[in-house]
Amino acid sequence: MQHLTLGIETSCDDTCAAVVQNGQEVLSSAVSSQAEIHSLYGGVVPELASRNHSRNFVPLIDAALDEAGVNLCDIDLVAATRGPGLTGSLLVGMMGAKGLAWGLGVPFCGVNHLLAHIWAAALDEGGGSLPETAVCLIASGGHTELVYLKEHGTRGMLLGQTRDDAAGEAFDKVARVLGLGYPGGPAIDNLASDYDGITADLPRPMLQEQTYDMSFSGLKTAVMVLIEDISGKKPENLTRLSKEDSRLIAASFQEAVVDVLVARCIAGLQETDSDILVVVGGVAANSLLRHRLQTACGERNIGLIIPRVRYCTDNAAMVAAAGYAQADIGCTDSLDVDVDASLGLSLPE
Ligand code: KG4
Ligand code: ZN
Repeated sequence: MQHLTLGIETSCDDTCAAVVQNGQEVLSSAVSSQAEIHSLYGGVVPELASRNHSRNFVPLIDAALDEAGVNLCDIDLVAATRGPGLTGSLLVGMMGAKGLAWGLGVPFCGVNHLLAHIWAAALDEGGGSLPETAVCLIASGGHTELVYLKEHGTRGMLLGQTRDDAAGEAFDKVARVLGLGYPGGPAIDNLASDYDGITADLPRPMLQEQTYDMSFSGLKTAVMVLIEDISGKKPENLTRLSKEDSRLIAASFQEAVVDVLVARCIAGLQETDSDILVVVGGVAANSLLRHRLQTACGERNIGLIIPRVRYCTDNAAMVAAAGYAQADIGCTDSLDVDVDASLGLSLPE
């Protein structure tokens, strides 16, 4: 039977709404990006983000329903992100979603944003479910965690995580130094893909240590030193770096981050004797990371699941998929459930 979930995602700066059929088939996935607004400030301004979510909420839900060719009264379940994220932003999406569920008389699910990123792997070709066991890297603007997923994503064990900045945060910080605006990941990815020379030698933090943890904050400092070496000027005094130098820096930085992420994934697969790797979150959109993972997994006969690029960065289809899976095992929420800005992944072991 056809079951339609309306997913809503407003944890950071993108307002997203999607209609997903049977937890798998994406009928629509609308995203209203606020990047242009926040780019002026070099990062997300929480107050502006929540105001714009309020403004975008109704038009975006209309757009998602229109694109899916369904009416509001066809919706069987409403799912919205309850955390982690910015409190004001989360509140706009959750309150709106709860109001819709109440008005329609359908169940509501508050979804963990990190779990939603993982469930992006179940969309489309994912067939609506997660592998029975897998190693999963979640790499986004706020989180970088390596998890061993069990029982189709209902249980899990944290193998390692970043000790400071998230991988996406490092991309954003380095992009700011290079004057590339926000978000920095796609800009660095583009610049680096135009570079085919030899990259500069940047550190691969913690790679030699016996841990699955990671660290990315030192890379920004290393990039600053590299800029100084190349240009002879302090990064804060830079008026303009040549295009070729910017490309070299972007490519060298990207190589370093990708090396660390790939090495941690491979070590996690060996540790848990797993043969499936799932890589999700905004950084999973990175073209070099996708390419390197394909090669590394191909060489080792590991099945690699990376969602399409549009389901790696924030979207509401993944929220709908996670909400559907939750509702499927009877875990819907009462309308009293509150947002939780610092919600962790915390799957039961
Ligand atoms: O998952 P996401 O959309 O939002 C969070 O939950 O944080 O991830 C956003 C992060 C940003 O830091 C952005 O710069 C990074 O993902 N990102 C990328 C790429 N696209 C987005 N990083 C590297 N390469 C990309 N192509
Ligand atoms: Zn996210």
